[in-house]
This record gives sequence, structure tokens and C-alpha cells, in this order.
Amino acid sequence: MKRLFRGKDDQRVDHEEGVQEDGNGQQTGVQSDLELSHVGPYEIIAPIGSGGMGTVYKAIDRSRDASVAVKVLDRRYDLDKKRRKRDYLGREILIASALNHPNIIRMSNQIVEQEDRNGNVRRCLIMELVDGHNLRRFIENRELSMRQMVDLAIQLCQGLDFLHQHGIVHRDIKPENFLFSRDLSKVKIVDFGLSKSDSSWRTRWFKEGGGTRRYMSPEQLAKKSLDARSDIFSFGLTLYELFTGRHPCPGPGANDIMRQLRDSRFRFDLPSKHNPEIPPHLDRIILKCLRRNPNKRYQSVTELLLDLQRVAEARI
Ligand SMILES: Nc1ncnc2c1ncn2[C@@H]1O[C@H](COP(=O)(O)OP(=O)(O)O)[C@@H](O)[C@H]1O
Ligand SMILES: [Mg+2]
Repeated sequence: MKRLFRGKDDQRVDHEEGVQEDGNGQQTGVQSDLELSHVGPYEIIAPIGSGGMGTVYKAIDRSRDASVAVKVLDRRYDLDKKRRKRDYLGREILIASALNHPNIIRMSNQIVEQEDRNGNVRRCLIMELVDGHNLRRFIENRELSMRQMVDLAIQLCQGLDFLHQHGIVHRDIKPENFLFSRDLSKVKIVDFGLSKSDSSWRTRWFKEGGGTRRYMSPEQLAKKSLDARSDIFSFGLTLYELFTGRHPCPGPGANDIMRQLRDSRFRFDLPSKHNPEIPPHLDRIILKCLRRNPNKRYQSVTELLLDLQRVAEARI
């Protein structure tokens, strides 16, 4: 399949204006030489992914025959004072280690510090391993049935709903941050490095940059305050790609995509135009997530979940 958006357009930007991170989470971008031989009791086996914050490795504790995933924070985050202060890894652990839901990745609640091969102390996060792929793989391969896609979408919604119910906005919802085991029995949301948690989040809306531009809501692109409905827009983009194999904005350039995302005069094609198997009800669901005005979107993932469950029931 032709990929219109590769490389830079997929990159995550962090809070420092103009700083670009490699955010496509593809195996191809992963460093091949291992930076570390072990982390705590775990022997590093192989890199399995990378994103804006660092590289994720498969690792094993041989004495217990236990496999885990280890995220090693990129050195840039320790070298740059501003970024060090933001403490993305600490934030990720603080937010995600306390969450207990089948569709949210489990992780230890402590940062492990480990010396790398060059003698630098590296900060690492230990997570449950999902031996499989991220959602990008299914978007490219188009090997899932409608039924499987609807089922995955429902499970992701359940995880996202749980997050929002706990006052957390993910802020970097995109295919690379959704993981699946090979047999699809595990479906997990990952990457809470940009997430926000605040008990008063409903009233004290967030005003902070960061995210992946081609998955940003119009309000996030405009650097306006945002809430959980911004995640719903990003999730709508992800659903559009899952069900059709393409992003709704044809670009061609990154700036064109950002304009198309923000401008309500640019009409997204009906998803079913690109995949005739999509029923009209699902067309409406996806496009409702993608309304530019947050007040016209789903106001909660719970509502979205109910609608998706109706699609699933209608097809059984
Ligand atoms: N627990 C895990 N098990 C398996 N693969 C993972 C796990 N966590 C992350 N990955 C892979 O690594 C990639 C980057 O991880 P992520 O947490 O998103 O890092 P970043 O914050 O750098 O974007 C993911 O897209 C996924 O492919
Ligand atoms: Mg990521």
C-alpha cells in the first residue's frame, strides 16, 4: 500500500518548540546495537520499538524465565535541562503504574537506573511485554476482518474510557501507541509520557504543547486548552486509518495535513468510500469523533463505546 505519510510527518514534537522526535514507533527505526546489556535482573535481548522518548527492548530474567519490555529513555532527555525538568519518564510511571485495567499497559512504579555501555547512567522503565505489534502493522497489512477491527476498537475504547474516568488525558493517541499480542488476546494502550492527570482537569483545562502533529485535534494544533475530547478526535483519526487503511487528510505536505485537520471547510471523505464494507452507522461514528468543534463530538468515550457496541451487535 502506498504510504503518503512517512518520516517527519509522523514525528512527535515535545514541549520545546521546534524540537522533533522520531515518533513513528516502527521497527525499522530501532537502533540495532544494544546500548545496554542488562537492566536490573533483566538481560536485554533485542530492540522491539522506538518512539519520541527512547527505545523499547525485550528483556528476560533467566532465573525466573520472566520476559518484560524495558523502555530506555533517550540520552537527550538527560542532557537537556528543560527536558530533564519535565521528567517524562517520571510522569509516565506516576500516571500509568497506578492504573489497573486489562487494556492499559502494566508497569513497575520505579525508575531503574542502569549504566550503559558508554558508562552513562540511563533511566529505564520496566513494563509488561506485549509480544506482537502496534496498530500500524494492521493498518498497513489490511489482514483483519471487520468484526476483528470493531472488536479491537471496542477494547481500545474501554481502556481510553477508563483513563478519562480517572481524569487522565493521554494527549498522544495514535496507532503506534496501541499494542496487540499476535493472537489479539491482549490489546493495550501505551506511552503515557505526555499524559496529564489532574483532579481538577475538567475546570483547569490544559495548555501545554506536545503530541504527534498528524494525530492532533484542531484545538491541540492551535495550542488551545484541551480536555478528553481532544483524545476522542485523535482516536477518530486512528479509527479512520484502522478501518480504511488511510489517513483522512491527503496532504500532501505536513502543513497541508495540519490545515486540513483544523479547517472545517475541508470535508473528510466518508470512510466507506475507501472501504465499502463499512456500514453507514460506523461512518457516522468515525465522523462524529472528527468534528472540529469539540462540543459537537462525542462528549465522552462512554458514549462512543456504546455506539461501537451497537455496531458489533448488529453484525453478530
Ligand atoms: N510493553 C511493550 N511491549 C512490546 N512493545 C512495546 C511495549 N511498549 C512499547 N513497545 C513498542 O515500542 C514503541 C515505542 O514505545 P512507546 O512507549 O510509545 O515509546 P515512546 O514514548 O518513545 O513513543 C511502541 O510503538 C511499540 O511498538
Ligand atoms: Mg509512543
